[in-house]
Amino acid sequence: MKIIITGASSGIGRRAAERYIEKGHFVYGIDIAEGTVNDSNYKHFTADIRDKNSLPDITDADILFNNAGVQNSGADIETNLFGTINVTEKYVESNKNLISVLFNASASSVTGQEFAEYAASKAGVAGYMKNTAIRLAPRGITVNAVSFGGVYTESNAPVINDPGCFEKIMDVTPLKRWMTEDEAADWILFLTLVNRSMSGQNLLIDNGEAELNPTFVWKD
Ligand SMILES: NC(=O)c1ccc[n+]([C@@H]2O[C@H](COP(=O)([O-])OP(=O)(O)OC[C@H]3O[C@@H](n4cnc5c(N)ncnc54)[C@H](O)[C@@H]3O)[C@@H](O)[C@H]2O)c1
Repeated sequence: MKIIITGASSGIGRRAAERYIEKGHFVYGIDIAEGTVNDSNYKHFTADIRDKNSLPDITDADILFNNAGVQNSGADIETNLFGTINVTEKYVESNKNLISVLFNASASSVTGQEFAEYAASKAGVAGYMKNTAIRLAPRGITVNAVSFGGVYTESNAPVINDPGCFEKIMDVTPLKRWMTEDEAADWILFLTLVNRSMSGQNLLIDNGEAELNPTFVWKD
């Protein structure tokens, strides 16, 4: 299979790219940053998803994983929502053999917790995911979103490396843990490669936070 991943240069996107490649697939990575995956089954494109014209022409992908995102950046809606729409509209049109599209939303899309524009952008992604699922169902394409709670990524280093703050986060996290990038990749690969029957769903995978104790704690 050939997989397009946005935001493939770090964190969840990079780990997912590595895992697809380990399983023998080919990844087209798109990121505003330089590529960080070195493998003959990886091709990198440096592009800003906010700019439609910077997106590369790709026509032979089977899977699209919309992962690129920013948090509390001043451009969360432009990047997470409009950028994701740019990418999706381009590649669902130009890739006739797509079998699945997956969006990396966030638990905040369901709970409304976290930063205001981030939560709004991710709730927008969840709504857009559903619209896309309806439109692509006649082509047999599954379209879903994952809404993760905390993941041990570099982007969360400021709170992970602050023992007092992380202890407060764990106090309100029912399962007393965050997800690893590998676990996130397990969900991503299953939903895009294996799942053929579920579509239009925003899956909340958040260490029990939303259902059992919805409280957002961050650095002062
Ligand atoms: N880390 C978490 O705890 C967590 C939880 C829930 C959801 N998410 C979501 O998962 C996704 C990945 O998060 P991460 O923690 O791996 O973040 P990250 O910062 O490590 O990776 C995001 C990648 O997106 C790229 N990117 C940012 N803006 C871009 C743009 N305009 N055009 C192209 N590429 C751009 C960055 O360069 C980076 O490589 C994000 O959408 C994030 O909102 C993360």
